[in-house]
Amino acid sequence: MVKINVLLTGATGLTGSLFLNHLADSNPGSEIYCLVRPTRDYTSIEHLNLNLSYFTGDSSTCETWDEIFAQHVPETIIHIASIRHIPTILDSLKKAGETPRLIVIGTTGVYSKYNQYSKDYKTIEEQLAQYPGSYCLLRPTMIYGSHRDKNLHKLIKFCDRYGFFPVFGSGQCLLQPIHADDLAKTILCVLQRPHIQGAYDLSGGSIVTFRELLTIVEKQLGKPVRPIYLSLKLGVWVATLAENVLGTKSPVRREQILRLQEDKAYPHDAAQRDLDFFPRSLEVGLQQEVELL
Ligand SMILES: NC(=O)c1ccc[n+]([C@@H]2O[C@H](COP(=O)([O-])OP(=O)(O)OC[C@H]3O[C@@H](n4cnc5c(N)ncnc54)[C@H](OP(=O)(O)O)[C@@H]3O)[C@@H](O)[C@H]2O)c1
Repeated sequence: MVKINVLLTGATGLTGSLFLNHLADSNPGSEIYCLVRPTRDYTSIEHLNLNLSYFTGDSSTCETWDEIFAQHVPETIIHIASIRHIPTILDSLKKAGETPRLIVIGTTGVYSKYNQYSKDYKTIEEQLAQYPGSYCLLRPTMIYGSHRDKNLHKLIKFCDRYGFFPVFGSGQCLLQPIHADDLAKTILCVLQRPHIQGAYDLSGGSIVTFRELLTIVEKQLGKPVRPIYLSLKLGVWVATLAENVLGTKSPVRREQILRLQEDKAYPHDAAQRDLDFFPRSLEVGLQQEVELL
């Protein structure tokens, strides 16, 4: 059996690659094993001042994990890829009789009042709570920060191109997006503090309504962005029709429209206290994102 220090999933993604950048700065030459998909080009992280090794596989399958644990014993697993893979990882660890420290990226989506979206996350978190080893669960809100984010970057590009953005409902629901780099730094902080365990909500430095978000985008782009108010019922109806009846892809998913109606601001006091978590304001984060455009 080969003992390995850290096994990381999601290394090629937005948060994972930023985490590796911070690790390379603070602990150059660190040895990290990354589980990457065979199809993935990982040249974007190759240049970092780290000692990277790779397992290829699919972190949603037990075959991949069983194969890894048959020959390797990780001290810590940082699982960024998807919390949905956690039941599979826990099963494989149980079979292997290993209890490495787990650092898992979850989501504040677990708090959604729409049970169809939060149910799976709640079940997975309950399973994680039964894990006999030490674990730390980080629950980010909506992640933004570069052309690789699937949320605000799309919105900024749309506003930049068309000068308007559709708003379903009143646009008064609260948002508190987190910059991917603030999340990445916190993952490193948790890695460096082995005594940290339990769950932490990680939200951004500003709480804004959807309307206020559009105003900030307008200011950063330096051009007008008009909110176009649309009926919530109509939006949900069209997205449902596209997804369930026509089988086509709606530009805005039903889930996104529904979840835009609920407040998604969560305090991060515990992370501030234990993890020195002081996330940047949305204004600063969006300015950086717009500069990257
Ligand atoms: N985006 C949000 O607003 C948001 C909000 C809350 C929580 N989260 C969670 O936060 C985490 C990080 O988000 P992100 O936006 O930084 O992610 P991302 O950029 O989409 O990157 C995901 C990473 O996971 C890898 N991955 C996905 N499925 C995999 C599989 N089956 N096997 C192996 N690798 C796999 C991807 O590999 P490839 O390069 O091969 O695709 C990629 O490296 C995710 O768990 C996400 O669910 C996201």
